[in-house]
Amino acid sequence: MVPENFENTLQKATLAERLTKIAALFAGKKIVFSTSFGQEDQAITHAITSQKLAIEIFTLDTGRQFQESYELIDLTVKKLGFNLKTYFPQTAAVENLVETKGFNSFYTSVENRKECCFIRKIEPLNRALQGADVWITGLRAEQSDNRADMPMIEWDAQKNLYKINPLIDWSFETLENYLAEYKIPQNPLHKKGFISIGCAPCTRAIAVGEHPRAGRWWWENSQKECGLHA
Ligand code: ADX
Ligand code: SF4
Repeated sequence: MVPENFENTLQKATLAERLTKIAALFAGKKIVFSTSFGQEDQAITHAITSQKLAIEIFTLDTGRQFQESYELIDLTVKKLGFNLKTYFPQTAAVENLVETKGFNSFYTSVENRKECCFIRKIEPLNRALQGADVWITGLRAEQSDNRADMPMIEWDAQKNLYKINPLIDWSFETLENYLAEYKIPQNPLHKKGFISIGCAPCTRAIAVGEHPRAGRWWWENSQKECGLHA
């Protein structure tokens, strides 16, 4: 379905052109974009909404996000004007988790942390992707070793869809310039040292010189991934 030179064509294109070409190639198919309202996601949301592309935008609300992030969600939806689909975790699964392990079990082991991420993020993601033909994300290669070799387009056999990362080759500088050029709303926490922002109890600000993802699950020596992009 994806022509051989398609990725090459995308590489030479602007973000708006990349998304337009993706929407055209998969016209009539279900294309969804997952946003955590991080800087990368804000750029993609702007490009989708400003061109009115047939791409559904969804977020996974873990229930543990920063107040600033919730405020940014409302502001972005209002300013860019789009329908946001929100997926919550299954009530019974969260109830069972907190009844058996308490509210902050993620600090006690990597296993317990991954269990919480599974209940609050992965299971809802699987529901969000049901029936989708294409999944667009805001991943960038620069973000971590884990993401360094990720392609712009890949067939995900397990999820049975194309996963497309239209910003995979963008530098942080290119991203910041794009956000500034279009005056796109951003999380005020970025100015307070938070670069990569996830759930409030699992994200801290980073010091100058620290890796941008050092503030995620900072107490762990793990790969610092929640499993969304395993
Ligand atoms: S994570 O795996 O460490 O949490 P990260 O915050 O870097 O991921 O975000 C990478 C991409 O994953 C985002 O661009 C977005 O597509 C998706 N993503 C992460 N968190 C969420 C969320 N809560 N809701 C929807 N998409 C998300
Ligand atoms: Fe739970 Fe923390 Fe994962 Fe959020 S990031 S789902 S609070 S373990």
